[in-house]
Amino acid sequence: HYHEDHATPETVLAAVAEGRTHPVIPDYEGLAAYRAEGGYAELETLRAGGDPEEVQDRILQSGLRGLGGAGFPSGRKWSFVRAADGPRYLAVNADEGEPGTFKDRYYLERRPHLFLEGMLIAAWTVEAETCFIYLRDEYPAVLEILRREIAALESAGLVAPGYVDLRRGAGAYICGEESAMIESIEGKRGLPRHRPPYVAQVGIFGRPTLVHNVESLFWVARICREGPQVLSAHEKNGRAGLRSYSVSGRVARPGVYLLPAGSTITDVIAAAGGMAEGHVFKAYQPGGPSSGILPASLNDVPLDFDTLHRHETFIGSAAVVVLSDRDRVRDAALNMLRFFEDESCGQCTPCRAGCEKAVQLMRAEHWDRGLLEDLCTVMADASICGLGQAAPNPIRLTMKHFPDEI
Ligand code: NAI
Ligand code: SF4
Repeated sequence: HYHEDHATPETVLAAVAEGRTHPVIPDYEGLAAYRAEGGYAELETLRAGGDPEEVQDRILQSGLRGLGGAGFPSGRKWSFVRAADGPRYLAVNADEGEPGTFKDRYYLERRPHLFLEGMLIAAWTVEAETCFIYLRDEYPAVLEILRREIAALESAGLVAPGYVDLRRGAGAYICGEESAMIESIEGKRGLPRHRPPYVAQVGIFGRPTLVHNVESLFWVARICREGPQVLSAHEKNGRAGLRSYSVSGRVARPGVYLLPAGSTITDVIAAAGGMAEGHVFKAYQPGGPSSGILPASLNDVPLDFDTLHRHETFIGSAAVVVLSDRDRVRDAALNMLRFFEDESCGQCTPCRAGCEKAVQLMRAEHWDRGLLEDLCTVMADASICGLGQAAPNPIRLTMKHFPDEI
């Protein structure tokens, strides 16, 4: 388990009260400490004559899947990028914006070099010309840490000046969608592109691009150093691997918990110290608002990729929000749709108009189930990107599991 507090609301308020305008920088592992424990030795060995194919095999054997939420097998993604003609790029999606998700921030504020070494190993494997890091701007401490540590890597001669290009997002949720992120990196408005072609073939400035989430790269470094079994040796309820659950809501100790991938909501709540005092478990969001809300009765489902499909949802970025008897699920679902309405890029009508109509319909005392179901079908079938396609999930699951509330 990982649980500890770094920059808390109290420390931030104290900093503001003292007139400090810079972010509170938590204690983190710097370059010297990371190198002292063997950090960057693997990267240097590879650069001195490693075999990219062998590194790719290790990633495949570990079973690593994309931890931004989609779970696409990482080794396969690398093989697609390597098969496309260069020059190639690497882009890190550090625009962690899914409400309830804070695991990437957690790792970046503690062990930035584990992530940076993983990124450089991946970049070496696919022969990337430049690494772009697209960082959520609401993480000022991470921005400061990465600026310092990238400069330290340049001074130490581990990366050429400018090889790692740190970009700041500007608060748009949609810029975490990989093709919108690429548009933004190119200097344009962040509008998702149609797929195919996938970014592995046509990414930044039309070049093949390896796009990875922060945590996926964190594990790349560990797999290369400790072997594929660092992930594959863990098994629970028939699922292999580990997941970083961001847990919040009505639990005693919100935080990031590293648990076996087959953990159920019962395990996750237990890891977070049980329910908060006086609260009775009623429902949970398994993986961000895009995954909707499930009832407490579904407490035996392994929370992993591919296991929630028969319940018409998915685990996504494993952002678990626990609701109690003091919450109304319909209010939570409305809140989610208001978020999607705000964050829709407006490019396609089913999402732009659909989110707005859904919010209107969900504000009624009695939900018009027929109209909402029609709207959900159009949005899921005809939206360009994942935002509009997944936005109906909170509506559908609330109608299915909490009919008394609507
Ligand atoms: P996706 O399944 O379309 O793609 C996943 C990755 O695999 C992408 O990098 C894509 O380019 C690649 N890919 C898929 N098929 C491919 C193919 N045939 N050839 C080459 N590459 C291929 O999913 P998407 O839209 O990228 O992500 C959706 C997930 O993101 C959801 O699970 C959602 O929960 C999560 N999410 C996470 C957020 C966060 O803050 N971490 C924010 C919002 C959503
Ligand atoms: Fe934009 Fe929504 Fe269409 Fe995605 S689904 S492209 S966010 S309007």
